[in-house]
Amino acid sequence: MAKRFYVTTPIYYPSNILHLGHAYTTTIADILARYKKSQGYEVFFLTGSDEHGQKIAKSAAAKNLEPKAFVDQIVAEFKDLWAKLKIDYTHFIRTTDESHIITVQKIFSTLLKQGDIYLDKYQGWYCVSDEEFVTDLQIDKATNTCKNCGGKLIELAEESYFFKISAYSQKLLAYYQEHPTFIFPESRKNEMINNFIKPGLTDLSVTRTSFTWGVPVLENPKHVVYVWIDALSNYLSALGYLQIDDSNFQKFWVDEECEIVQLLGKEITRFHTIYWPILLMSLNLRQPNSILSHGWIINDEGKMSKSKGNIIDPRILIERYSADALRCFLIKEISFGSDGKYSHEGFLNFFNAYLVNDLGNLLSRILTMISKYSDSKIPKFENKEIKKYQSELIFDFQTTIKDFQITMDQYQVTDAVEVVWKLIAKLNKLIDDIKPWDLFKNQQTAELNNVLNLFANGLMIISILLAPILVDASSKMQEQLGVQPTSTLSPEFDLNSIAGSQVDKKELLFKRLDVQVELDYLNSK
Ligand code: MSP
Repeated sequence: MAKRFYVTTPIYYPSNILHLGHAYTTTIADILARYKKSQGYEVFFLTGSDEHGQKIAKSAAAKNLEPKAFVDQIVAEFKDLWAKLKIDYTHFIRTTDESHIITVQKIFSTLLKQGDIYLDKYQGWYCVSDEEFVTDLQIDKATNTCKNCGGKLIELAEESYFFKISAYSQKLLAYYQEHPTFIFPESRKNEMINNFIKPGLTDLSVTRTSFTWGVPVLENPKHVVYVWIDALSNYLSALGYLQIDDSNFQKFWVDEECEIVQLLGKEITRFHTIYWPILLMSLNLRQPNSILSHGWIINDEGKMSKSKGNIIDPRILIERYSADALRCFLIKEISFGSDGKYSHEGFLNFFNAYLVNDLGNLLSRILTMISKYSDSKIPKFENKEIKKYQSELIFDFQTTIKDFQITMDQYQVTDAVEVVWKLIAKLNKLIDDIKPWDLFKNQQTAELNNVLNLFANGLMIISILLAPILVDASSKMQEQLGVQPTSTLSPEFDLNSIAGSQVDKKELLFKRLDVQVELDYLNSK
């Protein structure tokens, strides 16, 4: 039976266009999806938009538009960005989709019937910007604002249905304990336990009556379902849960063999590691294998966010420097799990140092040598008189392939890309040390052929491993090497499978940037 992989991003609010922070999450999910496909998995990659709630209703009203007409425009922009960033999702869910609404209503009815949801009254503070009921700890008392986003809080006193979260505290803690890799990184799990679960979970208000832009509760339609319950249900509704055709739900959720990974930013860890698992428990459904809570993209003003006015539109970077460059920057320079800084200067320096100098030059140097010294044909590797540095390099190839796989299988994308970069650096250094031009001059043909073969194999390995990240550049590398595009690689591959291929040095993979010129350009945007 085919191995299966289900990966999700949060569904983003279409209240504004997306920025680099959103692109970050989606890029990681895409890289994992492409990697798993290369490993023979059947993959379902889900992203989408979270279209209900008070925030969207307000943004639409400010533009004098009906909420649906307002979000339609922004969702088109989301899809445009994902196409530009080479995001190859399987399905884009919108919470206004009829099928999603049906699932949400059925989930609500199920919980109501079994007594996990009950009617009462809510009194307290609410942050519209985060669509979150805030606890005392989250309130900045001096200004009556939300400590997380700085937004104004509103006082609510309304009839509301409540979800019996409190009844599940012990079960949740036990689940965390039995599944130590459920939440990454560990520090966020501890934060959840110490700040929220141990002090005692309080039941969650899960309906609103003061506005109508949401999924109506079938049993009591003056209530709409709280936007976070609506939103979290997307991970199930997109697969057809409680719908007529639930074949994807059976394949990608019910089947315990399917590996389920959910990506999100740290500010919404609580929803995904407390409310979401509890919702699944009450529906008697399995849990995802891993919830990966990554850090923030920050700059001098702190977290990149619309409310801080410090956002970067990823499209500007993609259009000028390529999707590949941005994808690679995001996972290489922002250590997965931690916060990472974005600055134009940092991005441009990254481009020149890693893409132009390290990778681009390596390709160009090796192709030049093969055309000059071997009539543009990748030479055969002869198993005679193998030099020590050559057998060491073959060993490096094998460890690179293995280590890349190990780190990717643990979803450690930054570590995985570093494994490949180590090989790139090693090959660049080896060219300087071995000096193939001297071997050519001294007619040491056997050694020269072997080393050129190994260099070409090194490039092939790099292109295959980096394919989930550098979508275009990796196929350009294979094209110039004259090898068939392939996605699989085992550490026991045959060095001579590419021997005889005709290399074809074309344009540079990445052209050097003049940092000052580019800074002026970016700052003018
Ligand atoms: N609609 C909810 C999610 C519901 S999921 C069931 C939401 N949407 S959002 O539009 O605010 O997007 C939040 C997500 O955007 C975060 O989880 C994170 O993935 C990403 N990011 C937004 N700003 C970010 C940074 N500055 N840095 C990194 N990621 C950030 O919350």
